[in-house]
Amino acid sequence: MPQTSQSPSQIAKIREAQKALDFTMPSDDRVGKLLRTLVRSKPGGSILELGTGMGLSLAWMVSGMDPAATIVSVDNDKRYFDFASGLFPDDDRVEVICADGGEWIENYAGPGFDLVFADTWAGKYTHLEETLSILRSAAIYIIDDMLPQKNWPEGHEAKARKLTETLLTRADLDVCQLDWASGVMLCTKRPD
Ligand SMILES: C[S@@+](CC[C@H](N)C(=O)[O-])C[C@H]1O[C@@H](n2cnc3c(N)ncnc32)[C@H](O)[C@@H]1O
Repeated sequence: MPQTSQSPSQIAKIREAQKALDFTMPSDDRVGKLLRTLVRSKPGGSILELGTGMGLSLAWMVSGMDPAATIVSVDNDKRYFDFASGLFPDDDRVEVICADGGEWIENYAGPGFDLVFADTWAGKYTHLEETLSILRSAAIYIIDDMLPQKNWPEGHEAKARKLTETLLTRADLDVCQLDWASGVMLCTKRPD
């Protein structure tokens, strides 16, 4: 996808580092743009990303944040953390954490989030209940990689189908299934 003047300024640096570390799991740029669009609708919002990777989706989300919004992004791989945590040196709205996502969610006791992008196992295939429980009313929960991917291990398609059904049948969420980009489930938390 061509880079436009609207792309986050960190993108070229991120792509270069991804090549150097042979990082093959970045989010689709279309999903990045969708994330930014959604983050823009949450002025002052509190954003959570599970699975920082090398910061691609993080950069898209940060580029949609207003001065009062904040984002926490968690990854358990120190190599990715070391790179991504240096992407926003002077921006105290951004906190990148090196931790196991599941443990981080289990131990989280702070205020709820306005948008959660769950881009790793934790918050998606594990710890789903805990993650949905930290959504504020009208908060967005979004996941991608829900359409069959070439690199999926055997059995993963069934897991993805089960997760899709689980989300579609929850009473506390409005859910929109998008067979677009890598496959997106876009959910909002209904008021209690
Ligand atoms: C799909 S990639 C994230 C891509 C990233 N959002 C982007 O746009 O480039 C998934 C990430 O989850 C991380 N990960 C895997 N297991 C994890 C765990 N238990 N806790 C936290 N992060 C984990 C991996 O290190 C990897 O960076």
